[in-house]
Amino acid sequence: MNLGLIGHPVGHSLSPWIHNQLMQQQGLNGEYKLYDIDPEQFDERMAWLKTQNLDGFNVTVPYKEKIIAHLDGLDTSARHLGAVNTVKCTEEGWIGYNTDGIGFVYSLKQRYPDLFNGSAKALLLGSGGAARGIFEALIREGIQEVNVSNRTVERAEKLIKELPFDGKADAVTLADAEQTLGMYDLVIQTTTVGMSPEEDSLIIAMERLTKGTVVSDIVYRPMKTKLLAEADKRGARLHFGHEMLLQQAVYAFSIWTGTSPESKLLLQEFEQKLKGV
Ligand code: ATR
Repeated sequence: MNLGLIGHPVGHSLSPWIHNQLMQQQGLNGEYKLYDIDPEQFDERMAWLKTQNLDGFNVTVPYKEKIIAHLDGLDTSARHLGAVNTVKCTEEGWIGYNTDGIGFVYSLKQRYPDLFNGSAKALLLGSGGAARGIFEALIREGIQEVNVSNRTVERAEKLIKELPFDGKADAVTLADAEQTLGMYDLVIQTTTVGMSPEEDSLIIAMERLTKGTVVSDIVYRPMKTKLLAEADKRGARLHFGHEMLLQQAVYAFSIWTGTSPESKLLLQEFEQKLKGV
């Protein structure tokens, strides 16, 4: 397989490690290369990339939207979101996908299938690109009620308005989210708050959280964020950022290769890697 990642910068990516493990697991030869692309030369570099016989590649910041002008097709999520993180190179051209949200939802579903029985109430904290992807995937997987809370509440309103959803969704302030925390079955933190080196920051107080609620944080450094530690103290069920990171990569790999990789053991190995063991 001839795989890779385009972005700027791409130096600290964990994707080469994940995809090399996946290729090994599936008995496929190949490599996963990092392409650090200068924003000034993006169009020329994309024309060059088309000559490189790639099977597929990932797209990261700042090119998730810009890549679309160079694609020949888009899947439903990528079209709804206007953002692409995975490209499959086919005979018909380059096709764009977005596996960020669906990777998140798959890893959540594997761990807590009861959330998807149709009655769960979710709270999404944040309204950036990550929140949009997760919102889109949650509603596609059958969550009927998702409130969105953001420091700038207008952005939460915009997110809800822009994505097609016939369930129930309200934009709420962070103060409201804090007060009403007890009514949710699922709370998802999608911002960078709590990320190393600002490990002590917390987006909302967790006092009103009820036991058994699933709390998920997409931040994976540190692995157990302050939000997850506070949730743990209150008897919540936890879902970690590195689980999403791994699952969106596995999903991209299955789009490129048509294989269904085993991810339980890989998750354990990934945890060891992140802990530096
Ligand atoms: P991404 O595309 O990676 O999700 P983004 O579009 O920059 O990134 O979005 C960052 C998110 O983190 C936003 O929801 C942002 O809130 P605002 O829309 O109000 O800016 C949120 N965010 C960042 N720093 C924050 C902080 N200190 N407190 C609360 N929310 C924060």
